Parts: sequence; C-alpha cells; structure tokens
Amino acid sequence: MFRTLFITGVVLAAGSSSAALAQPAPDPAAQARAAEDALADQIGRGAEAWVDTCARCHNMRSPTEMSPEDWDMTVNHMRVRANIPGDLAEDIKAFLMMSSTPIEETENPDGN
Ligand code: HEC
Repeated sequence: MFRTLFITGVVLAAGSSSAALAQPAPDPAAQARAAEDALADQIGRGAEAWVDTCARCHNMRSPTEMSPEDWDMTVNHMRVRANIPGDLAEDIKAFLMMSSTPIEETENPDGN
C-alpha cells in the first residue's frame, strides 16, 4: 500500500516538475494555464505589496498615470531609493504594469 502511494507520488512529482522530459508532447494549453496562474498570483502579491510599500513616503500614484515602460523604470528607481527587496519590487512591477495597460483603460474607462 505504502509502496503504491510512494510510486504514484514520484510519478506525479516527475510529471509536474519536468513535464518536457517526462512527456514527449507537453500540453501547451496546460502550460499556458500554469503561466497565467503564476502571473495572477504575482499580480495579487504585487497589489498587496504596492499598498503596503508605496504609500510609506508619499501619496499613492494611480497605476494608470504611467505607461508600463515608465512603471518599469520608476519601480526600479523606488526599489533603490526605498531599499525594497528585489522579488517584492518584481511583484509590484507586475501589478502596476498590468494595471496601467491601455486595454484595461478602454474596457474600464473609470479605472474602478
Ligand atoms: C523610502 C521612501 C519611498 C518609498 C517607500 C517609495 N517612494 Fe516613490 N518617491 C520617493 C521620493 C523621495 C520621491 C521623489 C524623489 C525621487 O524621484 O527620487 C519619489 C517619487 C516617486 C514617483 C514620482 C517619480 C517621477 O518621476 O515622477 C513615483 C511615481 C513613485 N515615487 C512611485 C513609487 C512606487 C510605485 C513605490 C513603491 C514601489 C514608491 N514610490 C515607494 C520616496 C519613496
């Protein structure tokens, strides 16, 4: 019984950690979903970190105030100035860049 569970676990672990090696034809749709999930997680963390971090020294600036490229630069600048850990800065960047895209402005002109 234990042995069966153990083998199942190993097979599952191998399948998820090295899909390209274990499967000759990886499922692109599943990979795309996994990438989307990871991005959604990062944006969620970034939104929280943005609220916690970016209003410490000055008023919050709306994500729609700048282009994604400008947020990229600004967060790099603030990361150095405020000594924000790199992974946190990447999360905040992902949130701000995603929230500032023109597509969302068109769909949601009020920005709410
Ligand atoms: C340690 C304090 C501090 C923290 C934390 C901080 N900032 Fe700033 N921020 C400043 C100061 C000081 C300035 C003005 C001087 C400058 O640009 O260096 C500024 C300026 C800005 C500007 C205007 C820059 C421009 O070019 O118009 C933006 C936008 C900005 N911050 C966004 C952010 C964001 C986003 C975060 C979170 C990632 C953040 N700040 C965190 C201190 C901080």
